[in-house]
Amino acid sequence: MLNSSQLPLHVQQEVLQLAEQHAQPLCAYLYDLTALEQHIKQMKHVLPKNVELFYAAKANPSEPILRTLAPYVDGFEAASGGELVHLHQQQLNMPLIFGGPGKMPSELEQAIELNIDAIHVESLTELQRIATLTETLDRSATIFLRMNIDIGDITLSKLAMGGKPTPFGLDESELSNALTLLRDFPKVHLKGFHFHLMSHQLDVDRHLALMQRYFQVVKDWQARFQLDELMINLGGGMGINYQNNEQHFPWTEFCDKLEFLIAKEQVQDWKLRFECGRYISAPCGYYVMEVLDIKKNLGENFVIARGGTHHFRTPAAQSHDHPFAILPSNKPKTISLPLAQSQATFVGQLCTPKDVLARNQNIDHLDIGDYVVFTHAGAYAWNISHQNFLMHEPPIFHYFGKHKPS
Ligand SMILES: Cc1ncc(COP(=O)(O)O)c(C=O)c1O
Repeated sequence: MLNSSQLPLHVQQEVLQLAEQHAQPLCAYLYDLTALEQHIKQMKHVLPKNVELFYAAKANPSEPILRTLAPYVDGFEAASGGELVHLHQQQLNMPLIFGGPGKMPSELEQAIELNIDAIHVESLTELQRIATLTETLDRSATIFLRMNIDIGDITLSKLAMGGKPTPFGLDESELSNALTLLRDFPKVHLKGFHFHLMSHQLDVDRHLALMQRYFQVVKDWQARFQLDELMINLGGGMGINYQNNEQHFPWTEFCDKLEFLIAKEQVQDWKLRFECGRYISAPCGYYVMEVLDIKKNLGENFVIARGGTHHFRTPAAQSHDHPFAILPSNKPKTISLPLAQSQATFVGQLCTPKDVLARNQNIDHLDIGDYVVFTHAGAYAWNISHQNFLMHEPPIFHYFGKHKPS
C-alpha cells in the first residue's frame, strides 16, 4: 500500500470533488491528462534522433488519451480491425500501423483501402492474402514482416510473445519464402521488420541486449538476401513495476544507452521505431473505489469497495496486489467501522472469490466511505475487463488537466 502522500495533491482534490458531485458511493476512473502530456513529451525528448515512438492503442484507446498523445507521438498502432477503424475515425491525421495475429481478409482489405502506414505481417498465409488483395483491389500495401527469432541467452521477461514458440510472427526459416513471394507481387512493399518479443521489461541491459540482437539479425538478413534500406520496429514492452514505484523501466537511461548502441552497431542511418503501450498510459490513470463495508471473516479482514475486477481486471490479469493509497472521505458518516493498524484484503462487489484487488495489505487507518485509489490504472485496465459481468453500473470516467474533453 502507498502512503496517501504519494498520491499527488491535485489528484486527491479531483477525487474528493468528484465524490461531492455524486450521491452514490464513488466508483471512477480518473485520468490526469497533464501528467500524460508531460510524460510523453519527456519520453520523446530523450529518444535518439533516428527513433520514432508510436503508441500501441490496445493499452488504452480512449479518445482523450489519444488526443493528448497525438501531438507528440509519431503514430498509432492498432491490433485489430476494430482498433484500426476507431483510430481512423478519431481523425488524428497520424500514421497508423496494424498488427496482430489472425487478421481477417476483410480487415486486411480495410487496411489496404485506408492506405495505412504499414501492415505487420504475422504469417506466410497472411502475406499471401495481402498479396492477392493488392492485385484484386489494384492497390498497393506497405508491410513489415513480424519475426520471431531465437534470442540465445537473453532472459525473457514475465510475458513473452517471442524468443520461444508462440503464435506470433514468422519463423526465421520462412523469411526466404516470404521474400520470394514478394518478388511476384510488386504492389506489396517491404518497409522493414517488426519485433515485439516481450512485455513487462524492467531490466535496461537485457532490453538493450535484445535491441542489439535485432540489429545484428537484420544486418545478417540484409547481407544474405541483398535487402535495401529497411526500417526496424523494435516493439514495445517497457514495464511498469507495480510493486515498487521507484523501479519502473528506466526510459531515460535506456535511451542514453541506446544511442551508444546505435553508434556501436553503426545503425545511425537506419530508421527505428518503438510501439509502446503500458509505459506511456499506465501512470496517468487512477481507479477509485469507495469503501462500502469492512468485515472479519474466519479471522481475516476484508474491505469491500464499490466496483471490482469487472472494471479493473489488471490485478487479476497480472496476479498481483495492485498499488493503492487510502484517501479519507470528508463526507459526514452515517456508519463508521474503523480499521486501524491491521491487515486486510481489498475486494470488489462480485460474487466470486477471484474479485481481489490487493491481498493482506497493512493498513494504518481506514473507514467506510473512504476511497481506495489504485494508481497506474491507465493501461490494460478498463478495456481488458469483463465489464458486463453481474450488470453492475460502469464507473464514472473523469479526465482532468489541460486537455480534458469539453
Ligand atoms: C505487437 C505488440 N506491440 C506492442 C505492444 C505494446 O506492449 P506494451 O504495452 O507492453 O508496451 C504489444 C502488447 O501486447 C504487442 O502485442
